[in-house]
Amino acid sequence: SLGPDVVDIRSFAKTGMFTYDPGFLATASCESKITFIDGDQGLLYYRGYPIEQLAEHSDYLETCYLLLNGELPTPQQKADFDYMVMRHNMLHDQIHNFFRGFRRDAHPMAVMVGVVGALSAFYHDSLDINDPHHRKVAAFRLIAKVPTIAAQAYRYNKGLPLSYPKAGLSYAENFLHMMFSTPVSEYKVNPVLAKALDRIFILHADHEQNASTSTVRLSGSSGANPFACIAAGIACLWGPSHGGANEAVLKMLDEIGSVENVPAFMEGVKNKTHKLMGFGHRVYKNMDPRAAIMKQTCDEVLAELGLHNDPKFKLAMELEKIALNDPYFIERKLYPNVDFYSGIVLSAIGIPVSMFTPIFALARTVGWISHWTEMIADPGMKIGRPRQLYTGAGRRDYVQLSERK
Ligand code: ACO
Repeated sequence: SLGPDVVDIRSFAKTGMFTYDPGFLATASCESKITFIDGDQGLLYYRGYPIEQLAEHSDYLETCYLLLNGELPTPQQKADFDYMVMRHNMLHDQIHNFFRGFRRDAHPMAVMVGVVGALSAFYHDSLDINDPHHRKVAAFRLIAKVPTIAAQAYRYNKGLPLSYPKAGLSYAENFLHMMFSTPVSEYKVNPVLAKALDRIFILHADHEQNASTSTVRLSGSSGANPFACIAAGIACLWGPSHGGANEAVLKMLDEIGSVENVPAFMEGVKNKTHKLMGFGHRVYKNMDPRAAIMKQTCDEVLAELGLHNDPKFKLAMELEKIALNDPYFIERKLYPNVDFYSGIVLSAIGIPVSMFTPIFALARTVGWISHWTEMIADPGMKIGRPRQLYTGAGRRDYVQLSERK
C-alpha cells in the first residue's frame, strides 16, 4: 500500500484514463503533417510525396524546403532557400576554440552534442521561440552549420587544420570538400559519389516520431531553445539501436570477418547472444522502403568504384540472403533497414566509420527542426510530461541515521 491518502495511479488504468505503454508501441504522442509511414506496406511519404520519387528526382535542399514548408519550392523559392543555407554555413570563429578543448580521440558525435548545443551561446537572434523570424533563422543556421561542425569534428580528430565551406558546391559536395580538402590538395568530387551522399541525406531527412525526434519534441515542449533541442536529438541518435546502427553494421562485418563465419554468427543471433545489426525496425514489418533505394545506390557506387568484389560487400550480401530465407527472421518480420546498406555506401565513398552517425545526424537535422517548428507553432502545445507506473516501496517512516543498522 502507498498509504491511506495516496491514490494508486494503477486504479486509473481500470477506468481507461491511464495507459501503460512501455516503448510507446501503441501511443501517438502528437499530431503531425510532416511524414507518413505505413510499416506493414513499407510506405514512406514526406508531405505526401513518396520517398522513391524524392530520391530519384529531388535533391537534399529541395527536400529540406519541402519538409520545413509543406510544399515543393518554385524555382525562385529554391534559389533563395539554397542561398540562405549557403549564407549561414560558416561557424563563428570563436566556435573553433570549442573543438580544441576536446581530446583528439573524442567520438565526433560527442563533439557534435557539445558544439551544436553551444550554438545557443552565439546566435542570440534565433533564440526567441515565440518569434517566427527567430525560428526560421534558427532552422537555416542548423541545416547550414551542422555539416560544418561534423566535418570539423572529423578534421580535429585527424589533426588536420579546420576547413571552411566553399561557394558554388552543392550541399553534399561541400560536405565532402570540408571533410577531405587540405591546403595542398583540393578534394576532387566524383558526381556519382556526391549524388549517392545526397540520396543518403534525403533518405535520412525525417522519419516521424522516432526516438531522437521525440526527444527533440519533448525538449522543445519545455520552451528550450532550438539549438539545445537539436543537441538533445543528436545525443539520442547516437545509441546503437537508433542512428548508431550504421556504425554497428560495419563493426559487425569486421567481427564476422568472412563468409565462412556467417553460420556460427547466425547461431549466436538466434541464441540472442548478439543482434544482426541493420536488421529490424519498430515500425517496418515489411521491407524498409529506404533500404530498397539504398541497395540500388550501393550497386551504383560499387560499380562506379569497381568494388563489386569487395569482401565486405559480399559478406553483407550473404548475411542478407541467409536472413531473408531464415524462419527466425521471417517469423519476426525482420528485414534489412536503411542502415544495413548506408554503411557500405559510406565506407565505399571513403567516409570513416566514426562519421557514419554524424552524417545521419546532419541529414536528420531538418526533420528535427521541422517537427520542433510544427510543435512550437501549434497554439495548443503542452509540455510533454509522461506518467509512470510506480512499482517502488509503499509509504514508510524516516529512520534516524544513528538508528540504522
Ligand atoms: N537481430 C536479431 N533479432 C532481432 C533483431 C535483430 N536486429 N531485431 C529484433 N530482433 C528480435 C528480438 O530479439 C525479438 O525476438 P523475440 O520475439 O524472440 O523476443 C523480436 O525480434 C522483436 O524485437 P523487438 O526488440 O521487440 O523489436 P523492437 O521494435 O523493439 O526493436 C529495433 C526494433 C531496436 C530496431 C531492433 O530491431 C534492433 O535492435 N535492430 C538492430 C539495430 C538497428 O539496425 N537499428 C536501426 C533501426 S533503423 C534507424 O534507426 C534508422
